[in-house]
Amino acid sequence: MTRQSQQHGVENRLPRVAVVTGAARRIGRRIALALAEDGFAVVVHFGKSAAAAEELVAQIQQSGGIAMAVGCDLADAAKSAEKIMDAASAIGCPQLLINNASVFEDLPLADVTMQHCLSQLGVNLVAPVFLSQQFVSRLPDGIPGQIINILDWRAARPPADHLIYTASKAALASVTSGLAQQLAPQIRVNGVAPGAVLAPPGREQWHQQRADREIPLRVSGSPENITSTIRFLIHNTFITGEVITLSGGEHL
Ligand SMILES: NC(=O)c1ccc[n+]([C@@H]2O[C@H](COP(=O)([O-])OP(=O)(O)OC[C@H]3O[C@@H](n4cnc5c(N)ncnc54)[C@H](OP(=O)(O)O)[C@@H]3O)[C@@H](O)[C@H]2O)c1
Repeated sequence: MTRQSQQHGVENRLPRVAVVTGAARRIGRRIALALAEDGFAVVVHFGKSAAAAEELVAQIQQSGGIAMAVGCDLADAAKSAEKIMDAASAIGCPQLLINNASVFEDLPLADVTMQHCLSQLGVNLVAPVFLSQQFVSRLPDGIPGQIINILDWRAARPPADHLIYTASKAALASVTSGLAQQLAPQIRVNGVAPGAVLAPPGREQWHQQRADREIPLRVSGSPENITSTIRFLIHNTFITGEVITLSGGEHL
């Protein structure tokens, strides 16, 4: 047996680790739970929601899974990416990266500030790039990896509102396509582009209103629509550079 194949044997015996950013609450939490159910050791990244992240880790561990909470501000993208991937490497072999964390803000052009631009571009675009860089640099030869970026269907058909948020997601869609080509054949890179799934706090009726008036299927989506799509992408080894839209037809 060569030294390299011995090394692969060791890595194959380590837990497969999934890193999910912004995993303490809402959609990220559901993604982390689904991946833990599927046997991944999960890094539950959080920004401010430390208690919710620890609660989720305890829930996964009580079900027999492996999980670790890691808190950091993704605005500091390069440093955070290193910290998150260090944690992932400490519990196994990072093989899946889900870039889910996001800042979703809206300001009319006249009120746009540098801080408004930088926070959304930093978390929604730059952090996924540096996390991908760290993920790739740690993935051993011969071990397949996957990156799934959570986008938004609006990126493909920008509305008048959420100018910077939408631009950040469009840029991340572009990075998804570029990295799919750059990182093949070892790593597949795909995107999931949801529409109305979980309404933001304070706008609880927004998605129901869209379902009533604008969404052709007349319903809003659920976190399960996202987790089932992630599972599909994980298992379908012939897909890379794809963005799957989950909008009930709202993007048409
Ligand atoms: N909700 C929807 O219907 C919908 C529709 C279209 C697209 N999406 C996309 O789906 C994904 C999940 O949506 P969501 O509504 O569940 O997201 P969300 O609640 O708006 O945000 C997810 C998490 O991002 C983390 N985050 C934000 N800024 C951060 C920072 N500077 N540093 C570290 N973490 C930070 C927060 O973590 P902490 O709480 O720990 O601070 C937050 O819980 C996002 O990428 C979103 O753009 C969602």
